[in-house]
Amino acid sequence: MSLPFISKNDLVAGIDIGSHAVKVCQLKRSGNGYSIVALGSAVLPEGAVDDGSLNDPEIVGEVISNLFRNLKLSNKKIGFSISGYSVIVKKVNLESMPDAKLEEHIMEEAEQYIPFDIEDVYLDFQDLKTGTEGGERTDVMLVAAKKEIVDDYLEMLEGLNLKPVIVDVDGFALENTYEYNYQKTQNVGLIDIGASKMNINILSNGTSVVARDIIVGSRQLTEQIQNAFDLDFEEAEGLKLGSLPAGDKQQEIAEIFTTTCTQWVLEIKKAIDLYHSNHEDQPLTKLVLSGGGAKVNGLADFLARETELPVELFNPFINLRSKKKKIDADYLDSVAPEMAIATGIALRSSNI
Ligand SMILES: Nc1ncnc2c1ncn2[C@@H]1O[C@H](COP(=O)(O)OP(=O)(O)OP(=O)(O)O)[C@@H](O)[C@H]1O
Ligand SMILES: [Mg+2]
Repeated sequence: MSLPFISKNDLVAGIDIGSHAVKVCQLKRSGNGYSIVALGSAVLPEGAVDDGSLNDPEIVGEVISNLFRNLKLSNKKIGFSISGYSVIVKKVNLESMPDAKLEEHIMEEAEQYIPFDIEDVYLDFQDLKTGTEGGERTDVMLVAAKKEIVDDYLEMLEGLNLKPVIVDVDGFALENTYEYNYQKTQNVGLIDIGASKMNINILSNGTSVVARDIIVGSRQLTEQIQNAFDLDFEEAEGLKLGSLPAGDKQQEIAEIFTTTCTQWVLEIKKAIDLYHSNHEDQPLTKLVLSGGGAKVNGLADFLARETELPVELFNPFINLRSKKKKIDADYLDSVAPEMAIATGIALRSSNI
């Protein structure tokens, strides 16, 4: 009864199914690193995916098939990631014991740690081997994911003739991309702002010490613009992204951005305060923003001012090669923040 994490030597296509868009990344080995073979995204209809659940598998399946076709992707082996209310990630401190015994212990005691019925979840764990208290205790990362949600994804993907071999978690995939591209030793806050959720993951010396999902995201901005001017969703999205001229709505739109971004920044500051209260001697060195919401104009500067920390946009491609002829450099730059999770999944298979 564990998540279908299956070891594979060959590379998978990483699929990040968000509430706004599906993102796909395929890598191949190149020298002693990797290069990008295919990269792309496709927007999903409103409501097709919500809080990590697949509400409309047929439509999502169609969007993924078309994306694979457009990218000329023939790889059947894929990895995808889950997030939202259906997945719980928890670090627990336990007595050190061999893996087999640990598994037994976790199966027996899991209900203490997770708020779901144990029969209803796939459970996985990793001994972080922190060896605290003279090696007597250790931190263990527990992941519990609702079977019905994971099974919906598996069924949809298998229905497309794809072979899911990795089930990842958004926050872990992001961490994986970060470790591949950036210095691992820093204390850093990874913040993914998608359409409907913000994932905050604070890493201290390469280990996740604060992780939380907050139900805020860039769709909030679209909905507020929609309500303020009584528009349909597409028009409001166009105004938000600047692809439609704001005209006399400019001032009110700017106010919506300020109010909402202030709320996001407050949430981020709360997580940072929590981190600093437990790690006084290891101050954060920077914040790295990913997800489409990270591209909100002025957000990075505002966050830097409010937290007094350097803030940068996540670039998952720093250590990846790409053929200029095949993938346009401007395209890579523009999609970098929202491709971080798909890239992390695509990198995953190489590590296991
Ligand atoms: N320049 C921009 N300014 C503001 N918002 C943007 C910008 N570019 C993209 N977005 C928004 O980012 C969101 C998409 O980002 P992303 O692909 O990371 O979300 P998602 O993964 O589908 O959502 P989630 O992870 O929350 O389910 C959309 O709401 C889109 O409007
Ligand atoms: Mg996302």
